[in-house]
Amino acid sequence: MTASLRTTAKPPSIGILTAGGDCPGLNAVIRGVVKSATQLGYGCIGFLKGYEGLVEPVRSMVLDKRNTSGILTQGGTILGSTNRGRFVGKRGIDETVAIEPELLASVRRTLDEMNIVGLVCIGGDGSLEIAQQLFEHGLPVVGVPKTIDNDLSATAFTFGFDSALSCATDALDRLHTTAASHERIMVLEVMGRHAGWIALYAGISGGGDVILIPEIPWTWEYICHKVLDREAGGTKFTLVVVAEGAHLPEGELVVREATAGGQVRLGGIGALVTEELQNRLGRETRCVVLGHLQRGGPPTTFDRVLATQFGAHAVRLVHHRRFGEMVCYRPPDIESVPIADAICHLRTVDPQGSAVQAARALGISFGDCPATESPFSMPAAASRGVRQ
Ligand code: F6P
Repeated sequence: MTASLRTTAKPPSIGILTAGGDCPGLNAVIRGVVKSATQLGYGCIGFLKGYEGLVEPVRSMVLDKRNTSGILTQGGTILGSTNRGRFVGKRGIDETVAIEPELLASVRRTLDEMNIVGLVCIGGDGSLEIAQQLFEHGLPVVGVPKTIDNDLSATAFTFGFDSALSCATDALDRLHTTAASHERIMVLEVMGRHAGWIALYAGISGGGDVILIPEIPWTWEYICHKVLDREAGGTKFTLVVVAEGAHLPEGELVVREATAGGQVRLGGIGALVTEELQNRLGRETRCVVLGHLQRGGPPTTFDRVLATQFGAHAVRLVHHRRFGEMVCYRPPDIESVPIADAICHLRTVDPQGSAVQAARALGISFGDCPATESPFSMPAAASRGVRQ
């Protein structure tokens, strides 16, 4: 145990950790937890580098109003995070991995020694799977969902998504003018893992012409058709937004790297789409991969408000001993659900949902039908109710 970094807390304290990939708004949750916990008389201990900070060598810091003041607007996390290491909750999309019993015992020891009465675990689906396993082991855990991918079921939005979206929208705004000046096809690859939320929303808010997402199979012919249709109408440039997790027409995922632990790093589809369109159409085509810019920088106002509410509500759950629950956003309210219910499946884009239908109505192509086809003749567009 590293004595210099470890602080023994005698008063009842709330522990906080941030696990998995970072995103804007994590610090806003930490601040929300610390401020509201302090009002109720709890101390706060932040564990460093996700779940790793809970086990030997334990690494933690006392959090108080002073050292969390001013972090509301900061991107990243003052506690550090990792999506590698000894704690792995999930492999691939839905394979659960059991945490080693020695690690579970070690976490229990740390919480007991530090008098942690509730542990707030802020993470995406893999990190919340770990939180669930800690809870099943009898530990006092509550969950806070985070991810730019917005792919967690049980919450309408995760914080981080709006900030990533604003970055992708800004990129499209910038690409628009240069695409128009040079009469080029510009391809923007965005993150999102196996869900197309960032690509869909950015494509709508940034004036994309073609949106390729994992949830809608597409063909090269229909993308080319859209480009040619625009040209026939006098517009000589096209913006294509492609989600990193979109499958190629042959069904393949484009993977940058397979990491230890069976996870994959997605990425590279933007370059493939660019090359193929250039070859097929003979038009100048350029690719931009937005990458981790989407995860950096200050949170948007929406994410600050959501993250702050999540932090305050997580403390309420600890105070009322509602362990094993995760805070969630069910507009207009912040509520909670069992963590177990929240991690059982990914929330992906509904191809018949209102956002996709609105995009189609505007003439945006998903590469799945001829550009000239009336959007209102798409299956189920007219008769269904409005869904996100
Ligand atoms: O889950 C968030 C996310 O940014 C995904 O959109 C992306 O696929 C992945 O994390 C990137 O992970 P890493 O930071 O390990 O490259």
